[in-house]
Amino acid sequence: MADRLRAAMQQRYPSVAHMKAQAARRIPRFAWDYAIGGIGAEAGVRRNIDDLQRVLMMPRYLAEGADAPVLATRLFGRTLEAPFGVAPMGLNGLIWPGCEPPIAAAARRHGVVHVLSTHATRSLADMKRHSGDNGWFQLYPPNDPALESDLIGRARQAGYEVLVVTIDIPGATRRARDIRNGLSVPPRIGARTLAHMLARPRWLARLARHGIPHFRNLEPYAPDGLGIEALGRFLGSLLAGHITADRLRRIRDQWPGRLVVKGVLDPAEAAACLACGADAIVVSNHGGRQLDAAPSAAAMLPAIRARLGPDVPVFADGGVRSGLDIARMIALGADYVFLGRPFLFAATLGDDGADHLIAVLKEELRTTLLQLGCDRPARLPAFLAAPPAGEPLAGGQREW
Ligand SMILES: Cc1cc2nc3c(=O)[nH]c(=O)nc-3n(C[C@H](O)[C@H](O)[C@H](O)COP(=O)(O)O)c2cc1C
Repeated sequence: MADRLRAAMQQRYPSVAHMKAQAARRIPRFAWDYAIGGIGAEAGVRRNIDDLQRVLMMPRYLAEGADAPVLATRLFGRTLEAPFGVAPMGLNGLIWPGCEPPIAAAARRHGVVHVLSTHATRSLADMKRHSGDNGWFQLYPPNDPALESDLIGRARQAGYEVLVVTIDIPGATRRARDIRNGLSVPPRIGARTLAHMLARPRWLARLARHGIPHFRNLEPYAPDGLGIEALGRFLGSLLAGHITADRLRRIRDQWPGRLVVKGVLDPAEAAACLACGADAIVVSNHGGRQLDAAPSAAAMLPAIRARLGPDVPVFADGGVRSGLDIARMIALGADYVFLGRPFLFAATLGDDGADHLIAVLKEELRTTLLQLGCDRPARLPAFLAAPPAGEPLAGGQREW
């Protein structure tokens, strides 16, 4: 990014909140609702944010050797430039047409992980060219074993080395905003959707340039000639059913690389995933999009870390909106932290948006470490402060 452009972005959008405000003005309502929405009363979306905000950290200003904190982090035998990355998100091409390649390329340039969703609107092979070695693939395991093997084989062939199996969608998800908006993919252009689109000319221009979004990784399996609704039913039918321990072991047997299980909240289940051969887990409630009563990752991390011990890689996401939030998640027990929605907000700033977001987060994390007197992320758990007296922590987690 040219220096002048970078300075202008810094001034206009110094935080995720500023990026979100701009995104709200640029994304059509039906797509915005899909991006920011959660399930039910959306208490889970708020809880993710609130639980993190309640985490306090103790600065130590006499610290020695903490004047130049280093963000670099070792993960799966590689050094990454910072301990955070891009969470998998489906349908990005609907939310901001054409945004997927620049987000992946920014992650690669900045040395952070990019996880591509099965439900991406660009093909997994195409996207690997943008994400390079930093690209991981997220699998929603199809319930047809032949199709599952084929998809896993395609991920291997494309060169992915880390497979992230998401287990927290055992069946159809029912989100009120999407039902009200009649959301479908490709979009069904009813009067309501059309009105939303016409109110956002920038988005429309990008749609014209990048084309109608499709589920590029799954549509090859659909029978020819299905209409939009039948196609939607077919794609939905592929995902029905729990990812049982047997199914996880079957995936493990087929995947030679690192296997990560995403969507874990229960400490016993985290241990069960490892027993099935997982190399790591992502503690996540899917951004509050699946079960409104689910605890936040922030609330469950300490118990999961205690259960798995210090050596198992544990990742986390949900409600992370700043470098300080990244530090909080790591202090609670995460080794690596993912952000979802903020990358969609940033995408609407232009094709440099994700670069800008990553730069802001790195800077915020670095200044947080400096304030704490902490020389590197791995030492953050030592800076966790006790919660304020009388204020219960979410999830009943009172002892850190
Ligand atoms: C629009 C959207 C689409 C998502 N699609 C997927 C997906 O395809 N696969 C998946 O494992 N998680 C998906 N997620 C969940 C994210 O990976 C992540 O868990 C969540 O967004 C983290 O919360 P945050 O948005 O508050 O950072 C999606 C989230 C959003 C907001």
